[in-house]
Amino acid sequence: MRWLSSLLSAVTFSILTLAAVYPPPQAVTGNTAVHDPTICQDQHGTYFVFCTAPGIEIRTSKDRKNWALIGTVWPNGAPWTDQFTLTSNGSIWAPDCTYRNGEFLLYYAASSFGSQNSGIFLAKSKTGLPGSFTHEGLVTQSSPLLDYNAIDPNLIITGNSWRLSLGSFWTGIKSFDVDPHTGLFMQGNATSPTSLAERFVNSQSIEASVVFQHGNYFYLFSSWDFCCRGVNSTYNIRVGRSLTPSGGFVDQEGVGLINGGGTLVLETHDNIVGPGGQDLLVDKNGETLMVYHYYTPSGSFLGINKLDFSTGWPVVVPT
Ligand SMILES: *[C@@H]1O[C@H](CO)[C@@H](O)[C@H](O)[C@H]1NC(C)=O
Ligand SMILES: *[C@@H]1O[C@H](CO)[C@@H](O)[C@H](O)[C@H]1NC(C)=O
Ligand SMILES: *[C@@H]1O[C@H](CO)[C@@H](O)[C@H](O)[C@H]1NC(C)=O
Repeated sequence: MRWLSSLLSAVTFSILTLAAVYPPPQAVTGNTAVHDPTICQDQHGTYFVFCTAPGIEIRTSKDRKNWALIGTVWPNGAPWTDQFTLTSNGSIWAPDCTYRNGEFLLYYAASSFGSQNSGIFLAKSKTGLPGSFTHEGLVTQSSPLLDYNAIDPNLIITGNSWRLSLGSFWTGIKSFDVDPHTGLFMQGNATSPTSLAERFVNSQSIEASVVFQHGNYFYLFSSWDFCCRGVNSTYNIRVGRSLTPSGGFVDQEGVGLINGGGTLVLETHDNIVGPGGQDLLVDKNGETLMVYHYYTPSGSFLGINKLDFSTGWPVVVPT
């Protein structure tokens, strides 16, 4: 029976090492029915969450706990997105906000499910309030002639260098230079992306990239597997790191993200199903926050956790 007890202890060991325990998200109240949230904090300390919706919904909170839906970025419609959404003022996807020098920069995507006919646009506002945004124009677009899908934008600013990552399925996550003066692509090299991450299994499902700087490292977060299936969604959040924001990301085992690598950060646990569509913010208290959506039988909701980078890799900790 020795083999049986070794087998049992091996199985027990695997179960113990595989079953990660995640703390619950921070308790939130008010309107938190979001999908693909992005978070910013203005100069007064007010938190803003923008998310996928017709016109892009705006929520604010003073304390990060109680959230109010205050309106949309485009209360009068966004007809320039119609050629990509294939509807009138249809759902705008996965915005990405950056607040700097008293201004919100908001990138967002327009597409239709499973299509490579997609566009990324930029909007700016001093206040972040409904109707205050200016339309800065089309940043880039993709079509079936390319090997990537131009949705899920994310801006990283390092010194004078601005880079936009984007991508969903197909050949994964790409990175482009952005003109720091306009927030738009530089003339001449808009069609030569750098590849940051790619998957080769599960329909090549990788999207929702976020490049985040902590210490000497840049961390590339992404969502793997499938969103948008209610409680059957299988999204999970992965990470790799690099000393530069423009490539060379590896996971904790040393596997390149362009070779399918990605260390798990958060997955389905307890009553939190399919967490993903994440964004990160270091707030005015110096806390590193990760926001994401997750599903319950009643819809998708805002999750907020703190991340601890003290081991060199992000760990979800209680908020
Ligand atoms: C879309 O927006 C335009 C104005 O920007 C407006 O004329 C049109 O009625 C809107 N369509 C819908 C369905 O709201
Ligand atoms: C893109 O062009 C700008 C100048 O227009 C240049 O500074 C930058 O290095 C180029 N980037 C790439 C990736 O070629
Ligand atoms: C989840 O999967 C089950 C079984 O296939 C199906 O009956 C149910 O409709 C699915 N729910 C959603 C929200 O897709």
